Amino acid sequence: MNSRRDFLKKAFLLSSLVYCAQFGFARTEGKKSAIVYYSRTLNTHILAKYLQNITKSDLISLQTINSYPSDFDTMSKIAKDERNRNFKPKLVNINFEPNNYDMIFIGTPVWAGGISSPLRTFLSMYNFDSKIIIPFCTQVKDGIEGCVKDIQGLIPNSKILEGIDIKAAFEKEDQNLKSKNEKYINNNTNYLTSADKQKIDLWLKKYKN
Ligand SMILES: Cc1cc2nc3c(=O)[nH]c(=O)nc-3n(C[C@H](O)[C@H](O)[C@H](O)COP(=O)(O)O)c2cc1C
Repeated sequence: MNSRRDFLKKAFLLSSLVYCAQFGFARTEGKKSAIVYYSRTLNTHILAKYLQNITKSDLISLQTINSYPSDFDTMSKIAKDERNRNFKPKLVNINFEPNNYDMIFIGTPVWAGGISSPLRTFLSMYNFDSKIIIPFCTQVKDGIEGCVKDIQGLIPNSKILEGIDIKAAFEKEDQNLKSKNEKYINNNTNYLTSADKQKIDLWLKKYKN
């Protein structure tokens, strides 16, 4: 009888653990979440701010020391070239210590099917072993799969949980994209549709305490 009760107890504990691993986890005392992101024309910045507002995470924006050109065609060539060379542009110093966080949201625009180069630098700078990573990206046609593959390749010992991609505007079709986004920011609003917001809320629920 006892052994049956023990068996049921163990089965319950095990299923709870699996549930936690899949759909959420308790916040470790004293630890916070962080949102680290790169954004060139501010689509990802706006998404990162929206996520911060809900999650109350620390927000860390990555900036390159040498700025990228504003012309899309030139930028596109540079992004492809940097990807082929696995190039890691130098970043402005940030105040970030992975061990202060129990989950780290990582955001990027999709560039040439994968992560942006500044994120490549960031992920190479710290030890993310066993860290919980939640990716997010903005894009115009691709999903998040290419970014997840890149992140996995750079930090293979981290625990990458389900991410999200949000379709946003494309500077190739809208030269004024950055200034439009600046207007959103100044007006304390954003480009997210109600469907986007629903998708985000459902996704974030998985990571709530
Ligand atoms: C150099 C470059 C390459 C891009 N490559 C892709 C791509 O392969 N797939 C895609 O869906 N979007 C691609 N895009 C579009 C961006 O991912 C999209 O506009 C994104 O929201 C821009 O984010 P940001 O404003 O935060 O920089 C590319 C944009 C740039 C500038």
